[in-house]
Amino acid sequence: MNVPPSISSALSRREFVSRASALAAFSLAFWTGGCEGCLEQIENRPTRKNIANLSATDPVVVTYKAAVAAMKALPASNPISWQAQANIHNNKCPHGCWFFLPWHRAYLLYFERICRKITGDASFALPYWNWTTSPSIPAHFWGGSSNPLWDGTRQVTASDQADPSLVGAATIDNILSIPNFEGFASYKPAGGLPTHLGSGYGMLEATPHNGIHSWISGDMGTFQSPLDPIFWMHHNMLDCLWVDWNINLNHANTNDSSWANYVINDFVDENGNPTSIEVIATVLLPYFTYQFEPCSPNETTGKKSLRGAQLKKFLQTGAPSTLTFGPAHGASGEVSVPAGKPVRLTIPLEASGVQSVLGSDERNRLVLTLGDVDIPDSREFFLRVFVNKSDASANTPTTDPHFAGSFAVFADPKGMPGMTGDHRPKFLVDITSTVQRLNRDGGFPQGQIDLTLIAVPYQHHRTQEIPDEVVKIQSVSVATARF
Ligand code: C2O
Repeated sequence: MNVPPSISSALSRREFVSRASALAAFSLAFWTGGCEGCLEQIENRPTRKNIANLSATDPVVVTYKAAVAAMKALPASNPISWQAQANIHNNKCPHGCWFFLPWHRAYLLYFERICRKITGDASFALPYWNWTTSPSIPAHFWGGSSNPLWDGTRQVTASDQADPSLVGAATIDNILSIPNFEGFASYKPAGGLPTHLGSGYGMLEATPHNGIHSWISGDMGTFQSPLDPIFWMHHNMLDCLWVDWNINLNHANTNDSSWANYVINDFVDENGNPTSIEVIATVLLPYFTYQFEPCSPNETTGKKSLRGAQLKKFLQTGAPSTLTFGPAHGASGEVSVPAGKPVRLTIPLEASGVQSVLGSDERNRLVLTLGDVDIPDSREFFLRVFVNKSDASANTPTTDPHFAGSFAVFADPKGMPGMTGDHRPKFLVDITSTVQRLNRDGGFPQGQIDLTLIAVPYQHHRTQEIPDEVVKIQSVSVATARF
């Protein structure tokens, strides 16, 4: 992504600094030296690279290893120690709500600065793990306890591969095509403030995010997941996809001021001092302070990027993101999905609902909402959804045209600080492209829709006995939505 020369004129220094004071604090150098200097710094901002292309002797890998080793050597009482950084996540991380992306972006930013400081490598940029193109945990992260990047609690091996329905190109493409912030990046939390488990998961969080955590399992399956050095590479990939969605594809974040103005006070800087950063500042970070090597499956096609002043305004303004649903049609009563066994539901649907998503308006979508999902104790499986395929099973390939989407659950927040009682988030699956495809391939029968839900064990659990668990879903409904 190149910064256009027009950016210097597009930025009123005073306006920008006042909107993003926290951002200005750590990019002060951009603003103090006059704009020739700032433009050059923006253009030469560090590039976060795909770790699959880096050899063991690449300075990025060498520095990351050294940083992790140095942080692990510090006592937990030191705020920049490995354990203290993981504790921040354990105590504060927002999930299942729309603070998920900005919070983790800022978390990575300060972590990257700690890595620089502790190694003295000022040019370090955090690499990312592109699980779409490299679905196994990269080789740098294996080799036993002598390697600081190894984590002995992982339940997968170096050759295991994440399921393509969670991380593959078709899945990621489909998620990036969701133009609505809540659908993409999770819902506004009920009380407006971040919680461990908010009201609902958007598809980026539910599918590749939760899926990678629970597939790797061990530390990664818990809120102490940053103890596994792969955590930071995983979240950096999600950050890269948010950049692609927001800055390259110009899908707007929410314009809700309770999101934009929320101040995150949970992190420490590279000297261990407390920091604070507004959510709106995190939106601008990848435009001014770092950039990515391309990470998304559609990186070379279909970009409609805004530039300069228009882009800056777009990023700062956002758009309404509340999902408006048409009449919902549901299955009655609780639905129980036992691990490994398909469950079939028939849901009545007006012809007009299907018709509306067959037109050319990409904002008309057909959405499946699974409400009040009980997070099962065992998270050794994820859910797949097929449309109008009554014989779908755990073995039906996800290349089948009837496949609609997968999602996964992540750590159970019961017993977490601030969490009491049961927490049952909702999940949404955008089934629009499946319905469009089935309609193209022979017509989509009107009047009803058949859904098959399958709790599919992760690959490394398939040879073992499938846990005797049931996912309980209090409500299943299909509705048209205006994204
Ligand atoms: Cu806050 Cu992927 O975890």
